Amino acid sequence: MYDQNMLLDQALIARCNAYAPYSKFKVGAAILLTNGKYITGCNIENSSYGLTNCAERTALFKLISEGYTKSDVVAMCITGDTEDVIYPCGACLQVMSELLRDDTPILLTNTSRRMKELKVSELLPYQFELKD
Ligand code: THU
Repeated sequence: MYDQNMLLDQALIARCNAYAPYSKFKVGAAILLTNGKYITGCNIENSSYGLTNCAERTALFKLISEGYTKSDVVAMCITGDTEDVIYPCGACLQVMSELLRDDTPILLTNTSRRMKELKVSELLPYQFELKD
């Protein structure tokens, strides 16, 4: 197991860095690694709206760019100021399904510390995959 409260704390801290001048909706993400370190992310918007990067993908791209792989990941947390827990968008689910193991726990939360844990495969049971 892992400390869900500590992982959520990291996502809440990362959320403070969100660059969301257009939607004003800040999102934070944190990934706990097997070495005990955290990789964090926030949403980063752009005046050309479609170029916005969600918090989840920011964290996942940092994971890969820093040399880690899915086998280094214990769990991932997402947080936002929603009434229920926040759920990742479809684009992020597709990226999560490729860069994380199917059984990786995703801790869905909100800023009031509501929590719900689902596996990647429960969030996206089917995904696009290139086969050669
Ligand atoms: N957003 C995320 O960062 N993650 C999600 O799971 C949903 C949406 C961001 C994108 C945009 O900056 C803002 O939230 C409003 O859609």
